[in-house]
Amino acid sequence: MGGRRGRPLVIDCDPGHDDAVALLLAVGSPEVDLRAVTTTFGNCSVEDATRNALQVLTLAGVLDVPVAKGAAGSLDGGSTLGNYVHGVSGLDGPPMPEPAFEVESVGAVELLRRVIESSDEPVTVAATGPITNVARLLLDFPEVKSGIREVIFMGGSTERGNHTPTAEFNTYADPEALDVVLRSGLTVRMVGLNLTHQALATPAVVDRMAGMNHVVGQTCAAWMGFFGASYNRVWEFAAPPVHDPCTIAALIDPAVIDWREAFVAVELGGSWTRGTTVVDLHHRYAEQRPNTQVAMTLDADRYWNLVIDAVDRVGRRA
Ligand code: RIB
Ligand code: CA
Repeated sequence: MGGRRGRPLVIDCDPGHDDAVALLLAVGSPEVDLRAVTTTFGNCSVEDATRNALQVLTLAGVLDVPVAKGAAGSLDGGSTLGNYVHGVSGLDGPPMPEPAFEVESVGAVELLRRVIESSDEPVTVAATGPITNVARLLLDFPEVKSGIREVIFMGGSTERGNHTPTAEFNTYADPEALDVVLRSGLTVRMVGLNLTHQALATPAVVDRMAGMNHVVGQTCAAWMGFFGASYNRVWEFAAPPVHDPCTIAALIDPAVIDWREAFVAVELGGSWTRGTTVVDLHHRYAEQRPNTQVAMTLDADRYWNLVIDAVDRVGRRA
C-alpha cells in the first residue's frame, strides 16, 4: 500500500479509535503516501498505542509501512493517559488481528529523521496525539526542518477544552511540546476541537460503515460504538466527534476545511489553564505575527464521504 503516489506523509499518533480511522483514511487514499507511523503515549500507554497501530495496519492489509515506538511521556516527564475514553487497551471494542509485522528496532524520532532526510520531496508530518515525538525531533535534529513541508496537528481549540474545561487532551498532555512546534518557524496547521466537533459519527455515518461487506467496515462501526458510548458518558455527546481523520482529510481534499491564520500560543503555567491554546483570531496581540493556520469550518458531508470511501477501498483490498 506504500506506493509512491501522493504527498509523502508520516503520522505520529496514539491509537486510539479516531487515530485508527485516520490511519485507514491515509492508507485508503492515493492523494497521500504514508511513509511511516510513529506512536506516542496519550489515549493509552505507548506500548499499547504501538500494538494498536500494528493491529490497525494489519487489519488494513498494510504490512510495508514502518511503525516505530515513541514517547512514553511528555517532555517534562508527565504521562497523562486517556484510557477513560478509549478503554483498557486504548482501542477497546471489536477484536483485532494479531500484528502481522514487527515494530522497528529504532525509536520514533530516529524513524522520523530517516524518512524525512531520505525523502526526495518535503514530508508532511501529521500529529494526532500529544506532539512530544515531533518536538523531540525538532529539538534534537533542527536540520530536518528543511525536509518538512508542514506540521498539521489535531489539538487545542479556539473555544473550550475537553480534558479540562479549557484544555484539549493532546495539548494538555504535553504543552511544552506544542510550544516547541508553534515556535519552530515551520508551516503549522491546527485542527482543534472547534473543528473536530463538527465531525460527528452520526447513526447515518455508522450505518454506512456497518453496511460494508468486509471486516474493516464492520470494525470501524464497532469502534464508533465504543467511542460513542465513551463520549456520551463523559461529555454527553449524542454522537462522537471523530477528531484525528480531519487532519488527513485536509491533505486529501483542501476544500474540506476552511482555515484562518492566527497567532496561537499554548499556556504552560496557569493554575487552571495549563495546556490551553490561546488563538488570537482578531489580532488582539498586535505585536505577535500569525504563526498558525487554524481550522474553522468543516464540510462534514465531504469529510465523511472521504472517510467512508477510503475505509471501503481498504476493506475491499485487505
Ligand atoms: O482531544 C481529542 C484528541 O485526544 C484525539 O486525538 C484523541 O485521539 C485523543 O488523542
Ligand atoms: Ca489521537
